[in-house]
Amino acid sequence: MSILIFDSGIGGLTVLREARVLLADRRFIYVADDAAFPYGDWEEAELLTHMLALFGRLIERFHPEIIVIACNTASTLAIEALRDTYPDQTFVGTVPAIKPAAERTRSGLVSVLATPGTVKRQYTRDLISQWATRCEVNLVGSTGLARLAEAYMRGGMVDEKAVLAEIAPCFVEEAGARTDIVVLACTHYPFLVNRMRKMAPWPVDWIDTSEAIARRAASLIAADAPSQMRGEVLLDDLAVFTAGRPGPVTAKLLRGFGLTIED
Ligand code: DGL
Repeated sequence: MSILIFDSGIGGLTVLREARVLLADRRFIYVADDAAFPYGDWEEAELLTHMLALFGRLIERFHPEIIVIACNTASTLAIEALRDTYPDQTFVGTVPAIKPAAERTRSGLVSVLATPGTVKRQYTRDLISQWATRCEVNLVGSTGLARLAEAYMRGGMVDEKAVLAEIAPCFVEEAGARTDIVVLACTHYPFLVNRMRKMAPWPVDWIDTSEAIARRAASLIAADAPSQMRGEVLLDDLAVFTAGRPGPVTAKLLRGFGLTIED
């Protein structure tokens, strides 16, 4: 039995990294829908139809023990529809960490940095009205950060001024108070957090949910469920890219994450 970790690109590797630590005896299948990247730019109805069909194929092929949607843009749109459409399957979603941010802020000014898709979602608005009525939540839709993070992961370089331009709207000063928390509501962003920290106009807490998502997945796997180590042949962790075998730079990155690449 395997754990399927899904993202539109390589951002979900932030969750894979954490999940591996907690579930070392499981086989992981990392699926990137790179043929459709970035999800943040899609119209909702089209993306939903696309995702429901794609997951039908993935479930049929891999029969995963659990599916982790390591993508806020995908989860805020499709997690409920996926659960309704595939009721026998366990899904773990990734949604903006608005509740912990609202609990932690001292200034009362919180920013949520996400893709334009996540910022538009009713799901995100509902999280704010449910958990953050006592603070001011500033939704910042970034059109470029997911791509910058992908390029950085592949090439190790990033234009820091471009990063600053994307994060600048997160920093609000109002009546003597300043934003003190920025929620990283896209799984690509933790890869750039050191650059964000460096370019930030003042220090803030950056909330990254990857570890919490991995913990949630681990908690849903029954402690006594047989792992592949007991009896089964240990299979390699696999990377599946919907656009086909990725180029040499991405392949190297994936191997660094311990993934074998599907041909
Ligand atoms: N990693 C995705 C997320 O967490 C977004 C990237 C994209 O736009 O496809 O929202």
